Amino acid sequence: MPADDPPDHQETAMLHRLIYSSQVAAPMSPDTIEALLAQARTANARRDITGALAFDSQHFLQVLEGSGEALNRLYAALMHDARHRDLRLIDFRAVEQRSFDQWSMAFAAADGRTGRICRRHSASSRLDPAAVTATAALQILQDMAALPAPAAVA
Ligand SMILES: Cc1cc2nc3c(=O)[nH]c(=O)nc-3n(C[C@H](O)[C@H](O)[C@H](O)COP(=O)(O)O)c2cc1C
Repeated sequence: MPADDPPDHQETAMLHRLIYSSQVAAPMSPDTIEALLAQARTANARRDITGALAFDSQHFLQVLEGSGEALNRLYAALMHDARHRDLRLIDFRAVEQRSFDQWSMAFAAADGRTGRICRRHSASSRLDPAAVTATAALQILQDMAALPAPAAVA
């Protein structure tokens, strides 16, 4: 191995981006979503994770940014979280910079504006996991996070 090859632990500390979708397991009220977000934002800030979550009352679409190790751990926890199911990993890759560095977890619930955003980037006006590519999913989440309140709350 050449002397300037980085050790393995540096590789896992590299910035990564993970995108997944899931289906809500049972109806979630705005209060329970708020509680989930409050917990997620505190934990994410502690672990240097940023991202965005979109919810249309049926599906979640979430992007997470942070070290590969932190994201692997969080995704393992997400897979065991009974509040959602049918997780589909859409993308997981090393990236050079964050796209959501202002948000410990931006949130957008479905409304007319989010419907138009989905339609702009995919074949559906809903968060249809079968209808989004990794590129479209990222664009949808970026556009939603950039919406002025009340759709996007940092
Ligand atoms: C749709 C959805 C999104 C979530 N997003 C996050 C998140 O961004 N960060 C986080 O720490 N937990 C998130 N959670 C909660 C995790 O699944 C899990 O409950 C939490 O990480 C457990 O934390 P603990 O191991 O510290 O108890 C989310 C849960 C759901 C259902």
